[in-house]
Amino acid sequence: MSTGGSTHPAPILTVSGITARYGHAQVLFGVDLALAPGEVVALMGRNGAGKSTTFKTIMGLITASTGEIRFDGRDITRLSPFEIARGGLGYVPEERRIFTDLTVAENLEVGRRAAPAGRQAWTPERLFAIFPNLAEMRGRQASAMSGGEQQMLTIARTLMGNPRAVLLDEPSEGLAPVIVEEMAEAVLRMKDEGIAVLLSEQNLFFAGAVSDRAYVIEKGVIRYAGSMAALEADESVREAYLTV
Ligand SMILES: Nc1ncnc2c1ncn2[C@@H]1O[C@H](COP(=O)(O)OP(=O)(O)O)[C@@H](O)[C@H]1O
Ligand SMILES: [Mg+2]
Repeated sequence: MSTGGSTHPAPILTVSGITARYGHAQVLFGVDLALAPGEVVALMGRNGAGKSTTFKTIMGLITASTGEIRFDGRDITRLSPFEIARGGLGYVPEERRIFTDLTVAENLEVGRRAAPAGRQAWTPERLFAIFPNLAEMRGRQASAMSGGEQQMLTIARTLMGNPRAVLLDEPSEGLAPVIVEEMAEAVLRMKDEGIAVLLSEQNLFFAGAVSDRAYVIEKGVIRYAGSMAALEADESVREAYLTV
């Protein structure tokens, strides 16, 4: 598949021809995508297009009916979600998963896992450089945080597991505009730290601010793959497959 003209090394994550179903209803029809180390890639599409199902299939929460998923040189298609996460692929689902009765700092400790040999482990202090607003509320109980702050805490906690790549399912969903900008800055700082990010989005403003490349999915089929700049310039694709 085209990498949209960018010169990236071999992908860390490759999804090849996956199909997936809920019961008798097939919702993915041969999805192909790739993520290179250090890249930020957006999987875009309207509600119900198949973004979350693609992520759940990558993470082993749904078993692909056909196709192959490779991460970091390994076939992960039939592995359990736990094995996939332990192998270095982080996942932040749409619904926030924090412990509301714990503080920010305690939530981060819950996510702590040893880093692979030779890599610097994430610490709360290093994460506070990426999420400065969390630093100011490290002792606060998570139930007292806004939705956007909880979303950032969920991402920060995932990074405490020292993943090489993360899947972010609609990170800007439901956030106030000023928080969307903070989230975009956080994603760009993650990229600067060498973490590959695959995010799903309906918001072209957010995706355009952070992504190198984009895929557009509709009804479980990839309709567009190319650079983010080319997608932003392609009015016909945007009007056909994205909310305008
Ligand atoms: N648990 C489920 N059971 C049955 N159908 C589902 C389930 N989750 C999602 N779907 C359907 O699968 C399709 C893709 O959904 P989803 O992957 O959640 O889309 P997106 O994340 O792009 O909004 C939709 O038609 C949706 O209704
Ligand atoms: Mg979704």
